[in-house]
Amino acid sequence: MKKSFGIIGAGNIGKTIAAHLLKNGYTVKISNSKDPGTLKETIELLGNGATAVTAGEAAEADIVLLALPWKNVKNITSITNWNNKIVIDATNHFISPDMQVADLGDSSSSEVVQDLLPGARIVKAFNTLFFKILALNPVEGNGDRVLFISGEDPEAKAVVSELINDIGFAPVDLGSLAKGGKLQQAKGPLLLLNLIKL
Ligand SMILES: NC(=O)c1ccc[n+]([C@@H]2O[C@H](COP(=O)([O-])OP(=O)(O)OC[C@H]3O[C@@H](n4cnc5c(N)ncnc54)[C@H](OP(=O)(O)O)[C@@H]3O)[C@@H](O)[C@H]2O)c1
Repeated sequence: MKKSFGIIGAGNIGKTIAAHLLKNGYTVKISNSKDPGTLKETIELLGNGATAVTAGEAAEADIVLLALPWKNVKNITSITNWNNKIVIDATNHFISPDMQVADLGDSSSSEVVQDLLPGARIVKAFNTLFFKILALNPVEGNGDRVLFISGEDPEAKAVVSELINDIGFAPVDLGSLAKGGKLQQAKGPLLLLNLIKL
């Protein structure tokens, strides 16, 4: 049986990833910061298998995707017990419309997210491609579109890699949140890189 999937953030990136999951037979619980009733149109657009829930309910799924503004991650610290949860961090630490980033000192943005969600098994993924590129068919010619992953927990990374394969993309493991996370995060060298793995 496929793992259940909860998405926190129902904007460009949340809806795009939800569409890939639904196309591949997953069920998706998706949330925004308001009452789930405000997502009626989004659910109609996504179709069968999508349900609107609160962020707390989305966080109960087997795999939880963070698809909300980075500065709002601090608001979801207490919506569930994050201990041991597999959490995909698709956020980028932009803090203004003109793409300024938060000053994180030596930390990568996902290490900061890790501190905000104690015990979560964070895998950084789905953050590097513009949502309109991410929305395209991941199979191009003889290859699959690459999605980078970084994280400390090998089992969580294996689960996310399997998921990425399952929806037609090619996972490429960059290592830890400290090293790989920095390569793939906002202002890193891999941001917006659209690669096809042959
Ligand atoms: N857009 C891209 O191409 C792209 C690509 C890669 C990564 N990202 C990253 O993905 C994240 C989302 O970007 P986006 O472009 O999808 O943003 P967006 O279109 O503005 O959507 C943000 C969503 O997050 C929800 N949200 C905000 N605070 C929340 C909370 N406390 N609990 C639950 N939901 C909350 C918003 O709901 P409300 O309407 O209720 O506020 C909205 O549905 C950002 O961190 C961004 O850097 C974006």
